Amino acid sequence: MAVERLASLARSTDVGDRVVALRHDLHESFPRGRFDLICAHYLHTPAHLDRATVLRSAAHALRQGGRLLVVDHGSTAPWSWNQDRDLRYPGPREVAADLGLDETTWTVERADSPRRIAEGPDGRTAEVTDHVLLLHRTA
Ligand SMILES: C[S@@+](CC[C@H](N)C(=O)[O-])C[C@H]1O[C@@H](n2cnc3c(N)ncnc32)[C@H](O)[C@@H]1O
Repeated sequence: MAVERLASLARSTDVGDRVVALRHDLHESFPRGRFDLICAHYLHTPAHLDRATVLRSAAHALRQGGRLLVVDHGSTAPWSWNQDRDLRYPGPREVAADLGLDETTWTVERADSPRRIAEGPDGRTAEVTDHVLLLHRTA
C-alpha cells in the first residue's frame, strides 16, 4: 500500500522519472545500489525483525560520504499497539553499538533523543521521545 502510494505520488510530480518504489522483505534482500542517504523511520514491528542485520546492510549500502538516518521510538505513545510498561527502547548509541561497525569507516554524527508533540490516528496529541542516530560513511 505505502509502496503503491509512493509510486503514485511520484508519478504526479515532475520528478516521477527519478523515483523507484520497490518492495523488499529486508530479511531476504536489500535494494541494490549505492546510496547517499538511507532513512529508517520507526522500523519497529510485532513480527520478528533482525534490525541490527538490516541496519548493518543499510550502512554497507552507503557510498563514501553517505549517511544512514535511523529514527526510532524512544517512548510509548498513548495510541501505540504496544502498551507494555516494561518495554525498553535502546538509545541511539546502543543501536549504533549493536551494528558493530568499524569506527574508521562509519562515524556517529548525531545521537540524541529529542521530544516532540505527536498526533495519533484518532487526532489525540501527546509528547513523545524519538531516538535519532545519524551515521556517516567516511571511507
Ligand atoms: C512502524 S512502521 C513505520 C513505517 C514508516 N517508516 C513510518 O515512519 O511511518 C514499521 C515498518 O517496518 C516495516 N517492516 C517490518 N519488517 C520488515 C521487513 N522484514 N522487511 C521490510 N520492511 C519491514 C513494516 O512494513 C512497516 O512499514
